[in-house]
Amino acid sequence: MDAKSTDNDQRFVMKKTARAPANIAFIKYWGKQDERLRLPLNPSISINLSDVHTVTTVEFSPDYPEDVVEIRMQNTTYKNSLQRNVVGEETIRKSEQERVVAHLNRIRKIARMRLSAKVVSANNFPSSSGVASSASGFAALTVAAAAAARLKLSERELTILARMGSGSACRSIPDGFVMWEAAATSEESYAYSLFPESYWDIRDIVVIVARHMKEVPSTEGMRKAGSSPLLPGRIRGVTQKIGLLKRALEKRDFPTLGRIIEEDSVSMHAVMVTQDPPVFYWNDATITVIRAVSAWRDNGLPVYATLDAGPNVHVMCEGKDEEKVTQKITDILGVQQIIINHPAKGAHFIDGHLF
Ligand code: PMV
Repeated sequence: MDAKSTDNDQRFVMKKTARAPANIAFIKYWGKQDERLRLPLNPSISINLSDVHTVTTVEFSPDYPEDVVEIRMQNTTYKNSLQRNVVGEETIRKSEQERVVAHLNRIRKIARMRLSAKVVSANNFPSSSGVASSASGFAALTVAAAAAARLKLSERELTILARMGSGSACRSIPDGFVMWEAAATSEESYAYSLFPESYWDIRDIVVIVARHMKEVPSTEGMRKAGSSPLLPGRIRGVTQKIGLLKRALEKRDFPTLGRIIEEDSVSMHAVMVTQDPPVFYWNDATITVIRAVSAWRDNGLPVYATLDAGPNVHVMCEGKDEEKVTQKITDILGVQQIIINHPAKGAHFIDGHLF
């Protein structure tokens, strides 16, 4: 490719930086109706998390003979060459960088440009361990790269684009409490805000019990969702569940919200462990935390647990109970770190660049 070939390309030289939150789903997405377009089998609802995010800088320039992708994580930097590599504690899969380049290709195609890009991305949390790094990562990449390519896209269009990089990434673009529609076409499967971040003072306390990368990435695990005999039942029940959850949100009814969230997490993991081959994302400490949450609830504390595709537990409570709940979590053996989140706004530009 001749990166300096057209005047058109010269116009596109630009650098942008965006920050996007991770999100935690109240009603989860597990299973696709279209693998290539990442169209989900069911709609989902999530909140953005205030204290776990990705910052990404993208620059398109004729100075880059090829795409350069650098992903920085806690304790780890993995740079450039598309090979499996081990630095520090974590192994970054080659496929993650290839997914970034594939996403840049989507954006270049829409912008009708050919320039290569440099991408530097930094997470402030352990990646690939059930805190949704692909969601914040692809949301930040989409927003920064689209602007760097001078595309003028609506929020809806940005969510559709982000969805193609990583399904749940579309929910990290709108603010606060977010709904992602399931549909048979790409244009109709987009995400939008149900309520702003200030709507309800709730907490998602991420309880870190493992820092290593998960063995089965969600994209790979999800491909086998159809082999679980429990999947059809889960999907049949979703419309009613979405309705109940929306009503609990409207009424700010925390016990009902919490019950639905916890039930949906168990339902998703029931599908995961009954797939062929089964995927178990938990470890011993995961189960210890879940049992503790249930015991605290039996003793009158309104607290609920949910998991993504990883061993770390998200403990949900209302703002007024934050101190009590964090104290109890800290006392559990096996807990390495906690991250306290409240609902947050979606992806946005920030000043300053990572390079
Ligand atoms: O965005 P993906 O393709 O990595 O999917 C992750 C889906 C879950 O996090 C497991 C559930 C959800 O809805 O967030």
